[in-house]
Formats: sequence, structure tokens, C-alpha cells
Amino acid sequence: MRPGFLGIDVGTQGLKGVIIDPEGESVWEAVSPYATETPRPGWNEQHPQDWRRALEDILDQAASAPVRIQSIGLTGQMHTSVFCDASGRPLRPAILWSDTRGSDQVRELVAAHGEQELWQRFGNLPLVNYTLIKCLWVRDHEPEIWRKVRHIAVAKDWLRFIMTGNWGSEVSDASGTYWLSVARRQWDQTWLQEVNLSPEWIGPVVESTVVVGANRIGPAALRGLPVVAGAGDQPASALGTGVIADDTVGISLGTSGVVFWPRPQFERPPHASIHSFCHALPEHWYWMGVTQAAAYSLTWLHKQCGQTTTFDALTREAATAPPGSDGLLFLPYLNGERAPINNPDARGVWFGLCSSHARSHLVRSVLEGVALSLKDVVETMQALAAPHRVVATGGGVKSPLWAQILSNVLGVPIDIVEDPGSAVGAARLARLRQDPTALVRLRPQVTWTAEPESPAVDVYRSAFARYRELYQAVRPLLTS
Ligand code: XUL
Repeated sequence: MRPGFLGIDVGTQGLKGVIIDPEGESVWEAVSPYATETPRPGWNEQHPQDWRRALEDILDQAASAPVRIQSIGLTGQMHTSVFCDASGRPLRPAILWSDTRGSDQVRELVAAHGEQELWQRFGNLPLVNYTLIKCLWVRDHEPEIWRKVRHIAVAKDWLRFIMTGNWGSEVSDASGTYWLSVARRQWDQTWLQEVNLSPEWIGPVVESTVVVGANRIGPAALRGLPVVAGAGDQPASALGTGVIADDTVGISLGTSGVVFWPRPQFERPPHASIHSFCHALPEHWYWMGVTQAAAYSLTWLHKQCGQTTTFDALTREAATAPPGSDGLLFLPYLNGERAPINNPDARGVWFGLCSSHARSHLVRSVLEGVALSLKDVVETMQALAAPHRVVATGGGVKSPLWAQILSNVLGVPIDIVEDPGSAVGAARLARLRQDPTALVRLRPQVTWTAEPESPAVDVYRSAFARYRELYQAVRPLLTS
């Protein structure tokens, strides 16, 4: 049997397993879903035991794949926090990356330590998404639970504990906790003391390719296999699409939008809404800006259209409206916004509606508004100031129209590539341990290249100026 490498992704919708061959191609995959609970608006929780059940299901299935698995790599939703007792049992549901309950804790942390000081120290300002903020919320609102906490882990690192019995993290996911010195790629021990977190609760932090133990669960064939630390889902996905060096900017137009720009060293980004994190390869870093509702905006519209039409039909309809949607502008802040405006209270806006607009204009303006929101991140990051290649992935760019709009809005060619997914990135990290040159040889397949077209580029240049002005104009009207 051929050798294979198993990648496990604790995703938001479900747990995905992928096996790659030594050439890095996916030869097997399976998904085991689980639910997200929303006990209150803005709160998102999952049960870690559901992840465990899904993992056991995937390991059972993977053991019967026709390959000899050599090692296992892990990835998953970043920031998502699990609070455990001394035996590793979760004391409450996990608080998800997307959960926004910690606004007060962010404000208090910034007030106590000073914005400039935090910025200088971490190169990131605290956001509701980060693990530390979720800890402070539990400390403030669930003191009974907080008193019992003996271990804290992000999603994939809790599963790593289940698999190997070892606590700890690796630098890429640890970057999203807000207690890592991203510059030094080590825990900030002084800061841990300042925020009253015991280093014993979190274990050691290592590079992403390090073996962190031997697997002890699932079918006999998988027991004893080395488990590789892995990476957060965004850097793992960037490994899958070859976004590793600073000459390439990656854009993911998925449910949320992501602009991912590798950096050759640690640098503070030009704006506080941009994350400055460790990449999954030693001595590699990246900047990342995340938007909350990218393809989600179209999913929302599709739902409001009674789902009587398909996504393809909706985007075909959008193609009948002209670039700029005859003046109709959409701000896609349906779930608040992270980058660049960093405002959980922001809300969506349709501006400039008139009786001559048809549904085609509404749909097109949504596609355009999402592309403009990604440009807003790209501009804030100054990602296109230097020579670059832009690669785009995600469900949104499967629509040729949306990919073309993105190229016209950014004014640059965009290579559309198949995203093999974060689980493949994790499997490649497991593979990399055996052959460090393997990743360099792997280049993603370019499906096609969207070239900017005139006069649409000019239309979108002025639409972008209006887009930014519109948010500034409505901002005072938004209430929390
Ligand atoms: C990254 C982030 C999300 C989650 C999704 O900062 O919050 O992309 O990792 O799984």
C-alpha cells in the first residue's frame, strides 16, 4: 500500500479528514458534521465532545482507506477556546472564534494597559475574537467555572490532548490567543503573569512541524502514529494554496473574506484591525485582515429571495446589470465588521436605491460591495504597494462574474486557484516533517486568471471612494 498523511480540520461546520499521497495530492476525504449553538445574539458555542465524536468517526473511516498512514497533522478554527478541569474535561461549551460577547473585556483590557503599549508589545490590538478575551469573559461572568479551570486550549489543541495526552500549542494558532509574543514565537511569560494565567494551563508552544506525541485513540492501525502540531486553519489553508512568500497575496472569498499576506519577518501592520501572526513555517509571519460577511452576504440574499432560484441563476441575473449597479452601493456589514473598520455594531446598508433598479442591481451590488470590502482591507494593509501576485480561492470566486468583479475592483490580475482546504495544509505539515522540500514543489493549479477590464476599473475606482465615504456618513447613526 502507498504511504499517506492524514490531515484533520476541526472546522466550524464539521470535522474534516483528508489523506494526501507523498506528492501532496488528496486521495481520500470525509466530513463529520456537528452543530453550533447561538444561546444569545452574538454568542456562538460548540460542544468539544461533539468534535471528539466526529474525530473518532473520521479516524474509523480513515483506517479503512487504501493507504498506509504515516503521520497525522492537525488544524482548526482559530481562537475558539476550550476551558477544562485538571483531567481535561471541558467545563462549559467552547466559545467560538466568531463569538462577540467580549466587547467590555476588550475595552477594559485596553483601558488598563493602554492602546499604544499593547500595540508596541504585540503588534496586534485585542479583538473580541481572541482567546484571552474569552477567558476574561468567563472570569467575569462565570466565576464558578473560572475557579475550576486548569487547562485552556484552542480547538485543535484540545483534540491534540485527546489524541496524545499532551497539552500545548504551536505558534500559528497560539498567535490568536493574545498571550504569544508573535515576534519571538514564544509565550510572553510576563504578560501571562499580568493577566493571571498560569503557564501550566496552556503547556509549551512549538513550531508547527514539530511532533507533539503519539496518537492513542481510534483503530489499532492509527495508534502510535506521530501527531504533528499543525496550524490554525488560515495559515494551513495558505500552505495549501502556496501563499508562503511576500510576493503573493492570498484572498479567500468564502463565508467570511480573508486577505492573507506573508511577511519575511515580524512587523507591526499599518492598521490595528490587521492581525500580525506567525505563519506555519519557521521564520515566516503574515498579516491578515478578515471580513465577517463575504459569500455569506450572497447566501443571505439568496435566502431572502425565498431560495426559489439557484446561486448560479442569481449571479447570471447580476451580470445583466452594469458595473457600478447604476449607482446602487452595498455595505456588507451584516454581522458587524472586523477589518478594516473593526466595529461589531456596524450594519449592512443599501444606498442609492431608485425605482429603475431591478433585482439584478440588488444582486450585483452585493457582489460589488463584498469586493469593495476586500479592497478596503487590501488598501489598509498596503498589500499591493510592492510587486505581487494575487491568488484567490473560496466558493465566491467559483462564480466567474464575482472573480471578474474582484479583479476590476482591485485593478490587478487575479489567479483563481482551487483551494485544497486547511485539512490538506495540515496533512502537508505532517508530510513536511519527513521531507522539508515537499512543500516547495507543490504549486496550486491555476484554473484561470481574471484580468482587469476597462472601463469597469474606473467605475469601481470612484465606487470605492463612495463606499468609504458612505460608511463614515452612516457611522454616527449606528447604535450598539
Ligand atoms: C481567523 C478567524 C477565522 C477562523 C475560522 O482569525 O477568526 O478564520 O479561524 O475558522
